Amino acid sequence: MKSITSAMQLCSTIAEMRSAVGALKAKGLKLGFVPTMGALHQGHFSLVRAAKKTCDAVAVSIFVNPTQFGPNEDFSRYPRTFDRDRELLEQEGVDLLFAPATDEMYPAGATTYVTVEGLSEKLDGKSRPGHFRGVSTVVSKLFHIIEPNVAFFGQKDAAQVAVIRRMVRDLNLPVEIAVCPIVREPDGLAMSSRNRYLDPEQRKHALVLSQSLKSVKKLFAEGERNAPALISIGRSCFEACPNVRLDYFEIVDPDTLDPVETLKQPALVAVAAFVGTTRLIDNVVLE
Ligand code: PAJ
Repeated sequence: MKSITSAMQLCSTIAEMRSAVGALKAKGLKLGFVPTMGALHQGHFSLVRAAKKTCDAVAVSIFVNPTQFGPNEDFSRYPRTFDRDRELLEQEGVDLLFAPATDEMYPAGATTYVTVEGLSEKLDGKSRPGHFRGVSTVVSKLFHIIEPNVAFFGQKDAAQVAVIRRMVRDLNLPVEIAVCPIVREPDGLAMSSRNRYLDPEQRKHALVLSQSLKSVKKLFAEGERNAPALISIGRSCFEACPNVRLDYFEIVDPDTLDPVETLKQPALVAVAAFVGTTRLIDNVVLE
């Protein structure tokens, strides 16, 4: 266990968090921020470590954000492992943990949203209407509360990265966005808080996502630049796996999320699929 140099401060109200952040900022410290929904795994910790490396102080938020879940999605059963998360974040040397209750973030009568039009209806936004509106709203609120110098996001949620970057640009938010690589299990499965929903059989089937991306990457390395041909090899992996229901398999521009026909610039190959009732996503950038 890593030695703890100074205790992590836990804040559950916005007022507490603002004053804790104010104290750090008064010392002239560069503040890094990692927003999460908890049920932390090595993907989250990679962001925390990146923040520790490049910033003087690190804040993490744990908030299962109701506005980014659809009515038939897993908000109520989303894994909540707060005590363990808090302990692990303290061991990582995190300075501030912001863990507000739902009504602290959304007081009764809250009706203001941030919507990144267009982008929010692509990829996951197409199959999860309202999802990115919830994400951009809560992230902009967190940015206003914490006022970080740098905020860290995972490439795992590539469409989320595009939405947040666009929001920051369009609203002139004074924060730098840093993006960290996807952390995977040894067999290739992208780490996700939702992986714990999978039973042992489903856990095996879930490998088809990363394997389909691998087969696209291989064909690309062999010289194929035609998106439909690359998509077709990726999709074919799912035909051999009837227990997994493909949601989308697309090749898009990483910033606009618009489909590309021929790969010239870096292109995002993104996949989403249901393994049982669990929706998983994965992606790779070809360049
Ligand atoms: P959550 O799913 O908890 O993820 C928090 C951050 O961890 C995101 O930036 C996500 O991309 C990153 N992450 C998750 N799995 C990863 C992996 N395997 N490798 C690298 N990074 C990974 O994303 C959200 O929460 C929410 O939408 C949030 C931004 C907190 C807004 O509510």
